[in-house]
Amino acid sequence: MKLQNLLRVSALAISAAAFATAAPAADVKEVQMLHWWTSGGEAAALNVLKEDLAKQGYAWKDVPVAGGGGEAAMTALKAMVAAGNNPTSSQMLGYIVLEYAAGGATGDLTATATKEGWDKVVPKALQKFAVYNGKWVAVPVNVHSVNWLWINKAVMDKIGGSEPKTFDDLIALLDKAKAAGVVPLAQGGQPWQEATMFDSVVMATGGVDFYKKAFLELDPAALKSDTMKKSFDNLAKLRSYADPNYAGRDWNLATAMVIKGDALVQVMGDWAKGEFKAANKEVGKDFLCYRFPGTQSSVIYNSDMFAMFKVPADRQAAQVALATATMSPSFQSAFNVVKGSVPARTDVPDTAFDACGKKGIADLKAANDGGTLVGSLAQGYGQPPAIAQAYHDVVTKFFHGQIKTSDAAVSELVKAIDAAK
Ligand code: BGC
Repeated sequence: MKLQNLLRVSALAISAAAFATAAPAADVKEVQMLHWWTSGGEAAALNVLKEDLAKQGYAWKDVPVAGGGGEAAMTALKAMVAAGNNPTSSQMLGYIVLEYAAGGATGDLTATATKEGWDKVVPKALQKFAVYNGKWVAVPVNVHSVNWLWINKAVMDKIGGSEPKTFDDLIALLDKAKAAGVVPLAQGGQPWQEATMFDSVVMATGGVDFYKKAFLELDPAALKSDTMKKSFDNLAKLRSYADPNYAGRDWNLATAMVIKGDALVQVMGDWAKGEFKAANKEVGKDFLCYRFPGTQSSVIYNSDMFAMFKVPADRQAAQVALATATMSPSFQSAFNVVKGSVPARTDVPDTAFDACGKKGIADLKAANDGGTLVGSLAQGYGQPPAIAQAYHDVVTKFFHGQIKTSDAAVSELVKAIDAAK
């Protein structure tokens, strides 16, 4: 080759190489997502999201960590983040989002949020957890609430029961089921489930202001009050209606007992409705949903956030696509119809929802307007994780008989919360 040509070729090669290094790497068309949605209803809801993203050409890299309530998932996430292996996003509850944000692990979706006007449609109660130091670090996919009863309609008819309006009514209803030889209460026996039920019991026993004082303000007088003691008494009363095999039972297996008519009622967040849906059961015909008696005008909420992690530049477009898909009004409707929850936007019509969903949407609005929308302590929306953990520990020890009396439970609760502060 002539020298002139040789120079031209190598110049071309050099500029091609320079171009190759200067050009941004192609976007990775993949979303990696850690979550604990492994029950039938949860998996069906997640599919709505997977399909939405697949339509846009994004592959779904699933990181499921089974265990309702997300404790195991959060342990797995901690290890991934510590190893520098951030997922695109993770399902997360309330105060845990703020901890990751404070630790500098989260990304920044503010540009997308501003473009799409999220601050105008996401309830302020949720923005407190999705926005950190003025930056959007997470997107809320739903609003769940924990103060519900899920009842098998055929069993209810058989025992001639009606909606319990007070805690005493509930006890009378459970007695009727017992007399008819049906397991009255389908109970899962894991710390998060017992604590989730106790949220409702405390509100039913003391009212919404007591719940706020004790759990949201950690008022020492409320925490050690006779009302708290009475709440533990009421929890023990409920426990006596469970079958003997509840210890360790997963929440969705307890829901299945109600679906099959092996038990009358489960006290559970409205993710239970996702299980009824997945089993093709219809509200009003096969099952009934009532607010936990004594909490009818309040909503004890949690919300599944998709926390957005810091990811390399070539994964950011996928993260934005996930956030935009999650926040779209049509997705919020389609997903939450299947999940059992209600939309995390105030502008989504309730048309596609069943009667429980319509009630959930109306209750959320009324509670938000009336100051009776309160975070679930059991589900990460009452206090930071260390305190929520202390709460789980004491409630479960009481529930399983390691703490024997309500008096002892109250003093253990006060001690454990003080130590966790
Ligand atoms: C989540 C729900 C989930 C439930 C049981 C809760 O903490 O908010 O989305 O369905 O746990 O797994």
